[in-house]
Amino acid sequence: MSMYTDLIDNLEILKLDNIKNMLPGYLDEMKDKNISFTEMLYDLTKEEIKYQTERAAKVNIKVSAFPFEKTLDDFDFSYQPSVDKTELYDLETLRFMEKSENIIFVGTSGVGKTHLAVGIGMAAAKRRISTYYITFNDLINQLVQANSENRADIKIKYFCKYKLLIIDEIGYLPITKEGAYLFFQLINKRYEKKSTILTTNQVFSKWSDIFGDSVVTAAIIDRLVHHSHIIKIKGQSYRIKDRNVEMQRNIEKEGV
Ligand SMILES: Nc1ncnc2c1ncn2[C@@H]1O[C@H](COP(=O)(O)OP(=O)(O)OP(=O)(O)O)[C@@H](O)[C@H]1O
Ligand SMILES: [Mg+2]
Repeated sequence: MSMYTDLIDNLEILKLDNIKNMLPGYLDEMKDKNISFTEMLYDLTKEEIKYQTERAAKVNIKVSAFPFEKTLDDFDFSYQPSVDKTELYDLETLRFMEKSENIIFVGTSGVGKTHLAVGIGMAAAKRRISTYYITFNDLINQLVQANSENRADIKIKYFCKYKLLIIDEIGYLPITKEGAYLFFQLINKRYEKKSTILTTNQVFSKWSDIFGDSVVTAAIIDRLVHHSHIIKIKGQSYRIKDRNVEMQRNIEKEGV
């Protein structure tokens, strides 16, 4: 075995995959250019760090379970003038997480609530901050199921471990009082400790219809809103725009 193959083995053991892949080309280049050993080591380690950071970000985005991978850069702010672009990009810096603040997106269907919540979540996941996306109904179903097995506490702890939790679609379906109380326990545990992003199509005054208990509803809203950024989106559904573009395309195709 040559020293070169031993070196490749060492890189493999150290899991320096990028250096291992770059090495042959780099060694050829070294012969042509006058590259010093320090420069070579610096270049290779710099590229390895970049590679490992990108790989970790991809893994973190995958485990965050987003319904789609879209960022704020993919959001057409000109279509939704009620959304303050500067505020959103400020939230994307994740400063709000330092103070365990929440974000609540309120608006009718298709205005971009999930897109913006995911966009901020993606920024967190890319920075390897533990992030998790779940719809409100999935969350409640999991909590109620766990409660029926006497392990609600464990499940609530599980959802509390995420530094950023995104709870999407509050208010699409009403839930039981048991579900509402379990949700209160989760919000209470995360309160002032961890940030949560929520989306809803219902104004707060309608939330007691979702939770079925005005006392629990008030306690939930109180904690969520205390340190929060409430983003009200007033505008047309982007899905209508997509539908119009699609219709226009069909008309052009059919030559009408
Ligand atoms: N302003 C926008 N620019 C670009 N894409 C947008 C914009 N608004 C929405 N979209 C896209 O339109 C689709 C619907 O948006 P989204 O899912 O965020 O809506 P929503 O407010 O969560 O609606 P719902 O209440 O029905 O869940 C998504 O594919 C999203 O990426
Ligand atoms: Mg949505």
